[in-house]
Amino acid sequence: MLRFIKTLPYLFFLILLVQCKKQPAKPTGLVVEKAMVVSAREEASKVGLQILKKGGNAFDAMVGTELALAVAYPFAGNLGGGGFMVYRRNNGDIGALDYREKAPLSAHKDMYLDSSAHVIPGKSTMGATAVGVPGTIAGIFEVHEKFGSLTMADIIAPVIALAKNGVIVTKKQADRFEKYRNQIIEVNRGNPLFFNDIHQGDTLKYPALSHTLKSIAKNGRDEFYKGETAKKLITFIQEMGGYLTEEDLSQYEAQWRQPIIFKYKDLRVISMSPPSSGGVTINQIFKMIEPYDIQAFGHNSTKTIQLFTEASRRAYADRNYFLGDPDFVDIPLDVLLSQKYIRERMNDFSFEKATRSSDVGHGEVRVLESSETTHYSIVDQEGNAVSVTTTLNGAYGSKLYCQELGFFLNNEMDDFSAKPGVPNMFGLIGADANSIAPEKRMLSSMTPTIVEKEGKLWMVVGSPGGSTIITAVAQTILNSYEFDLSMQEAVNAPRFHHQWLPDFVIFEPDGFSDKIKNELRTKGYIINEDRTPIMGKVDAIRILPDGQLEGGADWRGDDTAVGF
Ligand code: GLY
Repeated sequence: MLRFIKTLPYLFFLILLVQCKKQPAKPTGLVVEKAMVVSAREEASKVGLQILKKGGNAFDAMVGTELALAVAYPFAGNLGGGGFMVYRRNNGDIGALDYREKAPLSAHKDMYLDSSAHVIPGKSTMGATAVGVPGTIAGIFEVHEKFGSLTMADIIAPVIALAKNGVIVTKKQADRFEKYRNQIIEVNRGNPLFFNDIHQGDTLKYPALSHTLKSIAKNGRDEFYKGETAKKLITFIQEMGGYLTEEDLSQYEAQWRQPIIFKYKDLRVISMSPPSSGGVTINQIFKMIEPYDIQAFGHNSTKTIQLFTEASRRAYADRNYFLGDPDFVDIPLDVLLSQKYIRERMNDFSFEKATRSSDVGHGEVRVLESSETTHYSIVDQEGNAVSVTTTLNGAYGSKLYCQELGFFLNNEMDDFSAKPGVPNMFGLIGADANSIAPEKRMLSSMTPTIVEKEGKLWMVVGSPGGSTIITAVAQTILNSYEFDLSMQEAVNAPRFHHQWLPDFVIFEPDGFSDKIKNELRTKGYIINEDRTPIMGKVDAIRILPDGQLEGGADWRGDDTAVGF
């Protein structure tokens, strides 16, 4: 009895602790009970939803949403590009699919250099010479074969209808068409749909794309890689001066990959492995900040920005040197992701003074990658989750539009390092891991991610934004987990970015006070106020404690969450 009385204070303390345990933030985004799709366009989200309502699962909805984005969001949605999917099934199984583009068989290291070894402007960015072997159709068929429950014809039917009936142009979409119209005209000979003035409220119909989709629905994957569509596509690309051949298409395969998995406090984060740098870099960033009480520093406070910036500086330096296609280069993942290595990387960090990027590492890196990718997140009524980021690379990819087939082609070859840099302090050749070789996949920053909390599905998240994808995804997770924002608030919150080189911090417009910027300047941070781009367009889903789903659809675009 005496022992029981002695333990009473502890029991009271425990009960108090349980009662005080912080409740998750109240949702402010769309809340639904069972299933949700969040993507860059309402029409694409609705195609995914329609498939779920028909009894399809998250994987069926992935196939439909991916194709519907090619119709509703040709800026980045695609048949002529590639992407990555991370999934978590309701039984806890996880995995990742790589349907990234590849270099053609004729590719070589110096293919974008002139005789003086200078990069030829535009050759890897505009027109047919920039096109990598597309992976999207292989990707969706791979997903369907492994996990699909409806027939491919049933899944593709609403997308064919969307292409045939058309999509109403939004203001943001009309502005984008206008911005890139001259470049599209410059690249394409002939008369593509996108040469015309396109206005808000117009209905854009895609009869050629609808026909291509019908052929794919009827004849399957090989229609795109070996059939009539393949022949037409290769004839067109070659006529326009590109390198792809029928052999390139026929040899393309999507690859199942082991995702990057790591713990951050009581979260388990599952993200994309190489050839995307997303998972490795986000893993390093989280592990570098884990020892600090970032919650106590406060959301977007000077100390939080400092800590996150210093972690990003170090993680991006590694990204640019070590990462590439794992089928071609040995990536020392065991070292890069080891606790010891990561902690040592932060040994010289101090809140008093900014580290100089020149003291962390050196090499050739480009300023910012193209940011015109797109991401969608899906959770189905059975609790399966998919997180998918897909891309043409630049806005409308290479701008090359195959009129006969109805879609744009990527300029993903520009994600290779066209001219590898000089040896770094470890004797490694900077960016050589990402040099061009036949059939190699180019390094990506796409970071489709799924997060578990206390062993259960908690968040599905990802973003476009080139090299800013990784910091946008990391900040969204932290916003919700550490700073108690709802899913929608976490997506809305202003973002900042640092990527080792160039050695400056960039902030989104209007999101950060002069006081914070001045404090950072005093500590030696270089702030680039000429560049205040929108960073990322995060589309995410949070699973609430009662099992309901909260959507976070990014206000920066036309992004929309739908569900039931
Ligand atoms: N093309 C953008 C990326 O893969 O990161």
